[in-house]
Amino acid sequence: PVRAVVLAGGSGTRLWPMSRLHAPKQFLRLTGHETMLEATVNRLGPRIAPSDVLVVTSEALAKGEGFHQLEPYESLLEPVGRNTAPAIGVAAMRYRLEGIDPVMVVLPSDHLVTNVPAFQRVLAAAIDAAEDGRLVTFGITPTEPATGYGYVKAPANHGNVRPVERFKEKPDVETARAMLAEGGYFWNSGMFVWKASAILDAIRRTQPKLSALLDLMQKEAGSIAGLAAVVKKRLPEAESISIDHGVLETCGNLYLLPGDFGWSDIGSWDAIHDVSEKDADSNASQGNVVAIDCRNTLIRSETRLVAAVGLDDVTVIETSDAVLVTKRGEGQRVRSIVDELIRRS
Ligand code: GDD
Ligand code: MG
Repeated sequence: PVRAVVLAGGSGTRLWPMSRLHAPKQFLRLTGHETMLEATVNRLGPRIAPSDVLVVTSEALAKGEGFHQLEPYESLLEPVGRNTAPAIGVAAMRYRLEGIDPVMVVLPSDHLVTNVPAFQRVLAAAIDAAEDGRLVTFGITPTEPATGYGYVKAPANHGNVRPVERFKEKPDVETARAMLAEGGYFWNSGMFVWKASAILDAIRRTQPKLSALLDLMQKEAGSIAGLAAVVKKRLPEAESISIDHGVLETCGNLYLLPGDFGWSDIGSWDAIHDVSEKDADSNASQGNVVAIDCRNTLIRSETRLVAAVGLDDVTVIETSDAVLVTKRGEGQRVRSIVDELIRRS
């Protein structure tokens, strides 16, 4: 069988003030009529039904913004976020508890894919490749030395599925430049395809403490019915660690499929500007906006008229209770505003 595990516990703080702690971007309509979560599930195609989707997210989001959006799916609720390694580990353990060993398609809930047919072709190939126990990730052709991604070295071989030689999560900019110059590197898409047993093996090799905790949780749960209470009680004991840093950098058995399907991690306003429709002067605007003599701006209005004259390289995001004004290129630092607001509250 094939199952989809959607990770929806992140807080998306770089997209403040559209994305809020209680309403992060995966639950918002950022780029179209669907929320990002809906788009994530809908692009999987007919092979994976809504009943085969497991959403792992936080208790707080499931009570708030996520409430109705989670209804069609099974969900696993975390009392606290412990990053992606525990979230993925618990999902895999949940299948083991049920006595099945499906190919898990692990998906972030907040990425954009513009070429859905191409995505579905690569996904089908990845599912085939994962059947024999390989861990598979999709490789995106890098366009700049971005520091927010994982870098995967996987030189071409005779087949389509390439063995990974090196995985480096979130390098500094010097290292990123060196890797691009060296060649053979892809960005890690953050979407993974593997059997539940294969990722549990990899966790056992790389994160023995998490592996032991998963075994204990399975034993205490006894059945699917007992799982929710055990996750609530035991997950806080897990160390916070991403699947990339904690497992994939060192586990071996990792393979890459190049994926040219119009992928974008719209993780920041700069990235949203990149994928938005723009006028001849590279301005993107949404809502009630008047922009005169502007270049390279992103201006979004939710409630009021926003008017700008003579701006270059500026982002303005207006919502009912907060306005962000920042320079293009500073997108990664928007999360520090949220940190500051949390400190003040
Ligand atoms: N359930 C749950 N619990 N989900 C989580 C948690 C958690 O504690 N933390 C993060 N997530 C979700 C996020 O909502 C997102 O959908 C996904 O897991 C990935 O987490 P991010 O925090 O967005 O990771 P990243 O963007 O820094 O890095 C990952 O994605 C990059 C591509 O976008 C890595 O896989 C990189 O290697 C990759 O290049
Ligand atoms: Mg991300």
